[in-house]
Amino acid sequence: MLEILVASNNSHKIDEFKSYFSKYQVKVYSLKDLNIDIDVDEIGLTFKENAFLKADALRKLTDKVIISDDSGLEIKSLDNFPGIYSSRFMFNSPYSEKFIKINEMLGESKSRECRFNSTLCVINLLKEPIYFVGYAYGEILKEPRGNSSFGYDPIFYSIEAKKSFAELDIEDKNKVSHRGKAIKKLIEFMEDNDLLYEI
Ligand code: IMP
Repeated sequence: MLEILVASNNSHKIDEFKSYFSKYQVKVYSLKDLNIDIDVDEIGLTFKENAFLKADALRKLTDKVIISDDSGLEIKSLDNFPGIYSSRFMFNSPYSEKFIKINEMLGESKSRECRFNSTLCVINLLKEPIYFVGYAYGEILKEPRGNSSFGYDPIFYSIEAKKSFAELDIEDKNKVSHRGKAIKKLIEFMEDNDLLYEI
């Protein structure tokens, strides 16, 4: 059984990974599962740099395969803001206030075109770290829609799903989400290289 540590305590992210690997001979652990309490300063300037920092910080603590994900929302007309700052932007405010702020920044005239980026860094699988990137394309909604409470899901209208991410259940979100696409690339790579087996 391949053991994978997902370098996150975000239950939404962990659930997405678990759902993807469920049909394989893989056990997915969160940091909490392994009693690892670590806070990595995301001082990188790109998703790739931050994903590496998150995975590398765990290298000394485990021999398991480590997968980190750095992700965020990029709004084209705001020069890809909030991007790598997606979780830190208005850090102490609820997402409902972030949605209002973003809508103020866009006003009536700026383009609402946006995408989610998920960049995975995988360590301890090959000698060198490897990376997989997935995008989900969408538009910023003026009003939040749906029940999921994860980050920007309620104001992200997915062009592929024709619904906000918060209106999708986890299986449907996985089919079109940035993380789903990046994980799919990783799984394809692992299958092609005989690193992954179905149950
Ligand atoms: P990270 O955990 O440092 O990668 O920060 C990612 C941040 O980007 C999250 O805290 C959310 O604000 C946002 N984000 C990333 N993926 C999603 C998603 O699937 N839905 C909603 N927000 C997301």
